[in-house]
Amino acid sequence: MKIFIETKRLILRELLPADAKGMFALDSNPNVLQYLGIQPITTLDECRKSIRLVRDQYERNGIGRWAVVLKDSYEFIGWAGLKLVDEMTINQHRNHYDLGYRFIERFWGQGYGYEAAQSIVNYGLNHLKIPKIHAYLAPNNIGSKRILEKCGLKFIETFEADGELFDWMEIENKK
Ligand SMILES: CC(C)(COP(=O)(O)OP(=O)(O)OC[C@H]1O[C@@H](n2cnc3c(N)ncnc32)[C@H](O)[C@@H]1OP(=O)(O)O)[C@@H](O)C(=O)NCCC(=O)NCCS
Repeated sequence: MKIFIETKRLILRELLPADAKGMFALDSNPNVLQYLGIQPITTLDECRKSIRLVRDQYERNGIGRWAVVLKDSYEFIGWAGLKLVDEMTINQHRNHYDLGYRFIERFWGQGYGYEAAQSIVNYGLNHLKIPKIHAYLAPNNIGSKRILEKCGLKFIETFEADGELFDWMEIENKK
């Protein structure tokens, strides 16, 4: 099992087929999906499929979303990471690194989102030496916006996709 990052309280490791139940706790909860414009899933098979897709990205790009687990207990609390967006264009960008994260509701409000996101931004800029990291989000996703701003991402513009508005954020590698 490949571990990518360790923070004070978290381990960020490759997403494994065994994470399907944890993924179900995320993606079957409408509160988690509130700002994401996707419908709750209803079967474990849907989770197995999304894990396969992420693992395909590891193979293809050497990176993708990672599982976030508690250091103390190895409990799966969600996922976070950089995805190379190579199969679609978002806000006229392609082949860019998108920062994303999603946590099981009972783990919200304890600083895990920021702790994971900040470690990923550092890893992307300092270890992978990515020139820019992007993220986009629903403008009213206040919690996510706060995390991105605390990680140093700046608001660039609002754009429209499929009839919805999104904020585009980025951080440039100054080194
Ligand atoms: C958004 C999300 C990642 C936040 O994770 P979290 O672990 O609860 O966030 P943190 O505890 O690290 O909080 C970071 C900051 O955001 C603030 N914050 C978090 N959620 C908030 C909310 N719903 N409303 C207002 N502020 C919020 C915190 O107060 C904290 O600010 P501070 O450092 O100034 O005190 C989490 O709610 C989640 O997984 N949501 C569902 C998926 C999602 O929307 N992902 C992002 C897609 S763009």
